[in-house]
Amino acid sequence: MTIWNLGSINLDLVYGMDRLPGRGETVSAATKAEFLGGKGANMSVAVARAAARVCHIGAVGADGRWAVERLMEYGVDTGHIVQVDVPTGHAIVAVEGSGENQIIIFPGANRDIPVERLRAALTQAQTGDFLVMQNETNAQIEAARLGHDMGLTVCYAAAPFEAGAVQAVLAYLDLLILNAVEAEQLEHALGRPVTDLAVRDVIVTLGARGARWISTERGSDQVFAARQVQAVDTTGAGDTFTGYVLAGLDRGMPMPQAISQAVLAASIMVTRRGTADVIPDLKDLQDLIQD
Ligand code: RIB
Repeated sequence: MTIWNLGSINLDLVYGMDRLPGRGETVSAATKAEFLGGKGANMSVAVARAAARVCHIGAVGADGRWAVERLMEYGVDTGHIVQVDVPTGHAIVAVEGSGENQIIIFPGANRDIPVERLRAALTQAQTGDFLVMQNETNAQIEAARLGHDMGLTVCYAAAPFEAGAVQAVLAYLDLLILNAVEAEQLEHALGRPVTDLAVRDVIVTLGARGARWISTERGSDQVFAARQVQAVDTTGAGDTFTGYVLAGLDRGMPMPQAISQAVLAASIMVTRRGTADVIPDLKDLQDLIQD
């Protein structure tokens, strides 16, 4: 089947430094590098590296041809990425020695995806396909509603987190993925625990501790532990996790197996500096298991 990803595409400007700047502070970076990024692009690449089929729906400006070409080289179907009269999105990513980051995004073309192009893309989706969105594009509600009405499995990765954005699509979701801080914020906004959401599956990523899967259908709540690794850069690890979960499910894995594989992929990702370009593939996962 196919994973349809309404997703952002960014140029990531990544600066390495001893510690992240505080408010009003100027710090010097020791390194600078450029990567393909954007939560959406990272997820698409993760899906492709996990050997599933992904169609990316998005937008770039005239300066973004390189990003589309790179996605294509990485095995992503780019036929539904349009060029618009707005510059391509970019992100300024600061990463400190511990691997923690701070990100500023300029959404650019990511918030200018023509809704009619989204609709046209999704007419090609089939029952059994997946649709994933993150909070870095426009048209999330239209996509979620359409995906739900078409019988797709609709997944929302609630990052960057905004309670209102999650609430707006909640009724259409089959799978919600968010981190522990975001889960707390959502619980606060909704006034009820995430275990009480009317979403079939909720996954809460727990960073170095792995991930928690709440199946509201079965009434189960299970934690999947992560391997202990030396993190150098946590950027894109959550996106890698989401892409791998979806690819696993799409390839017929039961949820526990898809999550275990995704936890492993994310634990490799945090040992690498960079974003989409360095997302591990299935061979990397195999090598780690055999170590
Ligand atoms: O999740 C990491 C991503 O967030 C980066 O690639 C950056 O572009 C921002 O979208």
